[in-house]
Amino acid sequence: MKNIVILISGGGSNMAAIVKAAQREGWAEHHGARVAAVISNKADAKGLQFAGAQGIVTEVLDHKAYPSRDAFDAALAQVIDRYDSPAEPVLVLLAGFMRILTPDFVNRYAGRLVNIHPSLLPSFAGLHTHQRAIDAGCQFVGATVHLVTAELDHGPILAQAVVPVLPGDTADALAARVLTQEHLIYPRAVAQLLQTM
Ligand code: GRF
Repeated sequence: MKNIVILISGGGSNMAAIVKAAQREGWAEHHGARVAAVISNKADAKGLQFAGAQGIVTEVLDHKAYPSRDAFDAALAQVIDRYDSPAEPVLVLLAGFMRILTPDFVNRYAGRLVNIHPSLLPSFAGLHTHQRAIDAGCQFVGATVHLVTAELDHGPILAQAVVPVLPGDTADALAARVLTQEHLIYPRAVAQLLQTM
């Protein structure tokens, strides 16, 4: 069985979409994979309640309790590695996890570390993507699922979805429209990746 570990910081709607897809599509049976744990760096992340209610193990690792980025990432890797063995490899999914990860962490899970970013990468890496796209006059924006490399919001693209920018769109309205597509492409890209693991 492959162990999917999902890292969140907030609402966790992408995590929930993945959990629901795994249930609906029978990932245990078809891909030999289960969502083994959801880890948050914030104790009040709303997504933890959903995961707990689904019977998924949840863990909180508060980054503020660690003296450095290296120390936090090392502790995080220790928790993740509980779900990693040659027989049961881990797949780590970043789903609204608002932390920049150290190269050591990224390299440790190379090829097994996935992120979703709410823009059509390589455009608009980083924060405030929707407002920046509106300000640039983009007529189309979107979301990207990609393998994580040491460079922020880069790495091989696994899936993308495109949505239109409509007249009068605010950043929030656009974010909500993009998010509906994120919920479709993230589970699909993960299911495809599981086939290759
Ligand atoms: C999503 O738009 C994700 O792409 C971005 O942050 C948002 C998180 O949403 N990185 P959620 O926590 O999955 O609901």
